[in-house]
Amino acid sequence: MDSIVVKGGSELRGQIHIAGAKNAALTLMPATLLSEEPLTLTNAPRLSDIATMTQLLQSLGAEITSMQDGKVQVMSTHGEINTTADYEIVRKMRASNLVLGPLLAREGHAIVSLPGGCAIGARPMDIHTDGLEKMGASIELKDGYLHAKAAGGKLKGAVIDFPFASVGATENIMMAATLAKGTTVINNAAREPEIVDLATCLRSMGAQIEGDGTSTITVQGVDRLGAATHPVVTDRIELGTYMLAPVFCGGEVECLGGRMDLVSSFVEKLDAAGVDVTETKAGLKVKRRGDRPKAVDVTTEPFPGFPTDLQAQMMAMLCLAEGTSVLEEKIFENRFMHAPELVRMGADIDVQGGTATVTGVAGLKGAPVMATDLRASVSLILAGLAAEGETVVNRVYHLDRGYEHVEEKLGAVGAKIERVQGS
Ligand code: EPZ
Repeated sequence: MDSIVVKGGSELRGQIHIAGAKNAALTLMPATLLSEEPLTLTNAPRLSDIATMTQLLQSLGAEITSMQDGKVQVMSTHGEINTTADYEIVRKMRASNLVLGPLLAREGHAIVSLPGGCAIGARPMDIHTDGLEKMGASIELKDGYLHAKAAGGKLKGAVIDFPFASVGATENIMMAATLAKGTTVINNAAREPEIVDLATCLRSMGAQIEGDGTSTITVQGVDRLGAATHPVVTDRIELGTYMLAPVFCGGEVECLGGRMDLVSSFVEKLDAAGVDVTETKAGLKVKRRGDRPKAVDVTTEPFPGFPTDLQAQMMAMLCLAEGTSVLEEKIFENRFMHAPELVRMGADIDVQGGTATVTGVAGLKGAPVMATDLRASVSLILAGLAAEGETVVNRVYHLDRGYEHVEEKLGAVGAKIERVQGS
């Protein structure tokens, strides 16, 4: 297994290109199942999760051609397709559950392995299945698989009230509703930019969708969807991650492709912590005002609140702040596993359930640390940028799921970082 070695203390200067969003591409790709005609994604990220989604869609019968070093994906699923999503693929990546809605909408039946829990939480699918059942599907769990059938072979429109603004459930139901008979209304829908990106793509395929980006989404079902070409939206989590990098070790970085509207609640916290963020023609430029950031309290919430996917990176920064910060994780029940690793580097963190109290220290020390999930792994790399000596981050396969070439992007702006191939 590869590891990444970071030698701390070098200032960062230069530009980092921000790729297309993993969490947009992972819901845009299953949309190909909704049409017999080709769907082309541009600005697609090159990540192991995208490779897994490609493998899943190909197992269902999709033809996928990757071009321009993977930045362009041409996908089409015409004719007879397989409607079973196998456990062997689904267990590698939870987002595989985003084929359930499209398969049901297209074929009227689907068998999709339940992903099971993951490091950060139990992550059930009850909001997805309750919504599809309201649209006339009968869903039964057998041998770890969801067996779903649409009454009369076709889903019907429904009014669905979500108990929680789930991102995945909003995406699954919105896709399913595009081909359903009648109108579907999702109340308390998630408002993430990835959902707006999906709705924009579906509209360009001929879907009738209104209200994406608000808590109420209305979808008027149509008989069929056509071809489209769609640019994947910028990855706001990769953006936030690299915006934090110069705060750890000084300097100034411009994130190319960065957009303020994608990270506004995050920027508010950075400003309060003494970090300047300015808009440029090409993106967002970031530098800290003083020698150390200031303590701030953070609570994770659905968009437009503070994103849970930036919580670990923010915690790492607050380990170096002047003062004490309180972080509350409200989205996932087990998303502080980076804390004990940061403590190994000399941080002062007290975790009580979903609340972490971080007392800032003057400096961190390099150490061998273990990545436990995607965002935890990158928070340890960021901490390594500030730490005295060498930090060795192990199990970086977690990282490759969501970050393209971290060591090249950070190395290009002056970080002393390298990947060590595992045996
Ligand atoms: C998406 O996951 C993202 N993944 C996650 O990013 C992100 O953390 C999350 O949204 C929240 O922003 C992708 O887009 C592929 P949810 P998703 O459904 O759709 C509970 C990363 O690091 N819930 O909004 O799975 C659930 O257990 C990943 O890139 C139910 O109880 O998130 C969780 O506690 C990690 N029942 C909360 O809601 C359901 O049916 C939020 O889940 C669905 C969800």
